[in-house]
Amino acid sequence: MEKQREEWQSKIGFIFAAAGSAIGLGNIWRFPYMTGLNGGAAFVLIYLIFAVTIGLALMLAELTLGRRSRKNAYGAFTTVIPGTRWRWVGALGIFTGLAILSFYSVVAGWTVGYIFKTVSGQFVGLTGSDQLKAIFLDLVGNPWTAIGLHGLFIALTILVVLGGIAKGIERWSRVLMPVLFALLILLAIRSLTLGPGVEKGLKFYLKPDFSKVGIETLITALGQALFSLSLGMGAMITYGSYVSKSDNLVTSATTVVFFDTLIALLAGLVIFPALFYIGLEPQGGAGLVFMVLPLIFDKIPGGLIFGTGFFLLLSVAALTSTISLLEVPVSYLIDEKKWSRKLAAIGTGVVAFLMGIPSAISQGANPFLSKLPLIDLSFLDFMNALFGNYSLTIGALLISIFVGWVWGIHNAVQEVEQGNPQFRYRKVWSVTLRYVAPICIVIILIYIIVTGKFF
Ligand code: PHE
Repeated sequence: MEKQREEWQSKIGFIFAAAGSAIGLGNIWRFPYMTGLNGGAAFVLIYLIFAVTIGLALMLAELTLGRRSRKNAYGAFTTVIPGTRWRWVGALGIFTGLAILSFYSVVAGWTVGYIFKTVSGQFVGLTGSDQLKAIFLDLVGNPWTAIGLHGLFIALTILVVLGGIAKGIERWSRVLMPVLFALLILLAIRSLTLGPGVEKGLKFYLKPDFSKVGIETLITALGQALFSLSLGMGAMITYGSYVSKSDNLVTSATTVVFFDTLIALLAGLVIFPALFYIGLEPQGGAGLVFMVLPLIFDKIPGGLIFGTGFFLLLSVAALTSTISLLEVPVSYLIDEKKWSRKLAAIGTGVVAFLMGIPSAISQGANPFLSKLPLIDLSFLDFMNALFGNYSLTIGALLISIFVGWVWGIHNAVQEVEQGNPQFRYRKVWSVTLRYVAPICIVIILIYIIVTGKFF
């Protein structure tokens, strides 16, 4: 008899854990940064459409495949169809998870650095955007600090993953996510009332200008939706494998997509008004939100406490995401290679740490890594685009084909119905997963190949 697989301790515990995976730097760091680079409101609208169509359908598909197979991202494929070559989709997902973790934890490290910067009063009495930039570059431009904080974050992630599923992750997510949410609302209100310039920010963020939409906008918006929802690499297959058969996967998936999207939209409302108020460029890149947030704290009574609290919560939100990233290779090694949880967590954590070093030193300090030849991106931006946009998009394409056609929508629907006997949206789900998702993705990818506009 195989040992019974661990399960989330309650339905709400699972929703918090899945939302914890989804909500993180993707919403608060990556979403405004991508929106800024891609011209604002039109990007936001396209992102929204992708999130509620392809995103929601794929969320349900991954959770369903995970629960049916009760396996990791790789084993899930071979469990529902023994020996299938589609297992390589799982392998791609596992590698993508490690690659994303490698640069994600670098940015999470900056967040930790900002806790200390805020607490030590470095942002009090700011004079302008140059100072905000200088403080950011001072942190990320020092290779030892950047690598050290990155290492610290990986170590924290390993520690939580070592504690196992239910105990480690659920406990964290439950309490802190609602507080982060409340704090974001407060910051949005402050940002919107800063003064002149704020309206320009709102316009940039909310009034679409479709003349700026190109093929890059589509692939980045899709990539952003997948990244933010933790889709396309098996994180939700893995989390789904711990869900009880009696849970209603449809409501779980919908809840997660709803809150994840809400938080991203809120983050934009915090960042863009303040950004235009202080006169920074929306194309600021990876450092964008780190340059804008301290400004808002400086303009709030008790900003030191709010600021410190915010970066602390953001670090926790990032941690609940890095946990899910690390859990993907870890559960693979435990299920398929019979490694102990301890060895798997430490081993993969160290690999992600080493892979992240080039990203950590790519922000200004290193002339080669800060501007790679030909593509003109920093190493971190390159990893972010390659794995965050392309790998996830290809993963999403293959997973939707697998669940919709290969394993088959009937089997998938049957699994959903275990916890939801009157699955009302079966038809919509089936059409989105089998047709809308693959066709849209293929068109985008072909267009990119034809135009050669990869980055
Ligand atoms: N969704 C997470 C975030 O928004 C990042 C993530 C991507 C986590 C892919 C797991 C898998 O921060």
